Amino acid sequence: MYTLAPRLQVIADYITGGRVADIGTDHAYLPIYLIKTNKASHVLACDIRQKPLDNAANNVRKSKTPNIELRLCDGLSGVNPNEVDTVVIAGMGGEVISGILERCPWIKNDRYQLLLQPMTSADALRRFLCENGFEIADETATEDNGKLYTIISCRYLGTAVKYSDSFIFTGKLNKNRELDRRYIEKQLTRLNKCCFDLKNIEGQNTRYLYYKNVTEEIKTMLGGK
Ligand SMILES: C[S@@+](CC[C@H](N)C(=O)[O-])C[C@H]1O[C@@H](n2cnc3c(N)ncnc32)[C@H](O)[C@@H]1O
Repeated sequence: MYTLAPRLQVIADYITGGRVADIGTDHAYLPIYLIKTNKASHVLACDIRQKPLDNAANNVRKSKTPNIELRLCDGLSGVNPNEVDTVVIAGMGGEVISGILERCPWIKNDRYQLLLQPMTSADALRRFLCENGFEIADETATEDNGKLYTIISCRYLGTAVKYSDSFIFTGKLNKNRELDRRYIEKQLTRLNKCCFDLKNIEGQNTRYLYYKNVTEEIKTMLGGK
């Protein structure tokens, strides 16, 4: 049986059928798993570079997996709106993921489930989503090779979503789940360091107070029920 890295497994667990586009597929492990386990009926495996796409083609061929179509394209530019139900964008920075969504007008439709897994800058991605009308429905933290990541499940809602400062750093993670809590605590450590670094720098008082306020919000959230 095909096994996935924990990061990709969490993404797969969010998918319950239909047609999927995997943007930045690289090795195509996720598409192969989704077809082999009947979690998807068809997968578009897309990548901006030929070499990863050749890598994907090799793995698809070796695994004899049907219903995977490979496409060389930037983001969603090679995907038609009527071809997919779920879009996965994993293993890239939060800003790159935001850019891919920003350049695709048709993704602004509540019929698409979006599963996003930023390697860095999850805060920038959450801010982009909220400000551009995407509602974060759920998040799950996972640990892969000793590092913590979050998987964001969202959909277009149409109106800008109100958010607190701390939401940008903790999203929809659940403090009562062990990995989610560790992820939130890691954000707190990062933010505390920002406060420490900014505290005595002239002209940085506004930024210092912003980070200070966020750390207080998160501490209160972790401490409460
Ligand atoms: C680190 S790999 C991630 C592979 C897989 N999604 C995962 O999470 O394990 C990132 C892949 O995204 C591709 N990529 C980067 N920017 C892209 C874009 N704008 N459109 C499509 N693919 C992109 C890269 O070529 C690379 O193969």
